[in-house]
Amino acid sequence: MMHGKRYPLTVEVFADYKQMSQRAADIVIELVKEKPDAVLGLPTGSTPLGFYDALVASGVSLARVRTFNLDEYLGLPRTHPESYYAFMKRALYDRTDLRPENCHIPDGTAADPDEECRRYEEAIRAAGGLDILVLGVGHNGHIGFNEPGSSWDARTRVVELAESTRKANARFFNSIDEVPRKAITMGIGTIMEARRILLLASGEGKAAAIKELVEGEPRPEVPATVLQYHPDTSVLLDAAAASLLRR
Ligand code: F6R
Repeated sequence: MMHGKRYPLTVEVFADYKQMSQRAADIVIELVKEKPDAVLGLPTGSTPLGFYDALVASGVSLARVRTFNLDEYLGLPRTHPESYYAFMKRALYDRTDLRPENCHIPDGTAADPDEECRRYEEAIRAAGGLDILVLGVGHNGHIGFNEPGSSWDARTRVVELAESTRKANARFFNSIDEVPRKAITMGIGTIMEARRILLLASGEGKAAAIKELVEGEPRPEVPATVLQYHPDTSVLLDAAAASLLRR
């Protein structure tokens, strides 16, 4: 894919995590009111919890909405409490009127993971593509599980997790040995086709990655910087995540 034209990112800084989360929810609620069968791309992790809380609290109906998650650990069954499917059930699916058949997430236990990746891409295409994709960002600049050095053309595929990512995610497991080594993730090519992107970041730990995203040169070593080539990306930050920005 050519990444010719760079677009200005819309950067919004909020006093705290709660306000950032509410703003993200407000944007999605507005979209769903305009387009009740909107297709949402969704993240897991700590960052989006407040966003899911605000979305649920709004009472907006998601009865016709379709969702596609960014990623899933390879090898974890949906019943494992740290699978991203189980996370989504707790954070969103069980708290809204989303229909189970409209909630999509890669199957980390598929017999043929490469085939599962192709099926997932096709399902996104068949749904008409992502109207909006909500992203978090890793300390190392990853988006989805597209770790530093990932190809910007990549589609949904099986990837190896960076050691730093496994360490960061070990907090959810009994020990680092239990953290899966591989995952299925939407590729950067898949991500870039979303019509609108909202990237959320909170806390000092993300400040360096955010500085790269907003002020750095786009380069595969910092995957999030690819978003400078996306025509409609908003970056929603709390004060700590914005603390290294020039203004
Ligand atoms: C999760 C995902 C990851 C996270 C990132 C930040 O679906 O794709 O890229 O968004 O690792 O995670 P938290 O929010 O836990 O800091």
